[in-house]
Amino acid sequence: MEEKNTEKYFAANQSYLFGFLVNLTLLVCIALLLYGVFGESMRGIFAQPQPVPEVVQKQNRKQRAVAAVDDFDRVENGIHVPTGLVFAEGFDVVRGTCTACHSAKLVTQNRATRAGWKGMIRWMQKTQGLWNLGKNEPIILDYLAKHYAPTEAVRRPGLDVAAIEWYVLDLAEEAVVQKQK
Ligand code: HEC
Repeated sequence: MEEKNTEKYFAANQSYLFGFLVNLTLLVCIALLLYGVFGESMRGIFAQPQPVPEVVQKQNRKQRAVAAVDDFDRVENGIHVPTGLVFAEGFDVVRGTCTACHSAKLVTQNRATRAGWKGMIRWMQKTQGLWNLGKNEPIILDYLAKHYAPTEAVRRPGLDVAAIEWYVLDLAEEAVVQKQK
């Protein structure tokens, strides 16, 4: 009687211990998982912000300054990146003059002949307060007429009449076909 009770006691105790170990393992796993997922971001909450060393600060400032200058003058595939203008003879004058009041986009989005550009300049002079361009005007017009001329794709290509295969439209035959339907 006494012995049986002790056995029972140990058996119960063992299963209790087993359950406890399983739970503990599960808890540890969950904790590890949570740490894996959120550990990095939680560390940021408790970490003290590290002061950036003076040397690095100086370096960063220098890099930013260089980057700004770089960007201001960057040319890719013949296009001046900040303005989008074609980088070619007359560019400096055009940038200096034609981006004073509005974005260079107004220029780059337009296409016109030399006379057309001259007309736009006159219009701006008459109505928008554009100053007399003086000796810069021919430089600007040369540049615009060369790089922002009307594109071929905009104009419909002329018809080559000789190459067209003409045919005679037979209305009588057409009528028969219509009737049969
Ligand atoms: C004094 C200021 C000023 C200067 C400098 C200036 N523009 Fe303009 N331009 C204007 C104004 C204002 C408009 C009208 C903007 C709008 O409609 O939003 C305009 C419009 C334009 C347009 C659009 C015209 C249209 O029919 O839609 C073009 C193209 C243009 N400018 C080209 C130039 C070029 C090229 C130069 C350099 C020679 C130049 N602008 C310099 C003031 C100026």
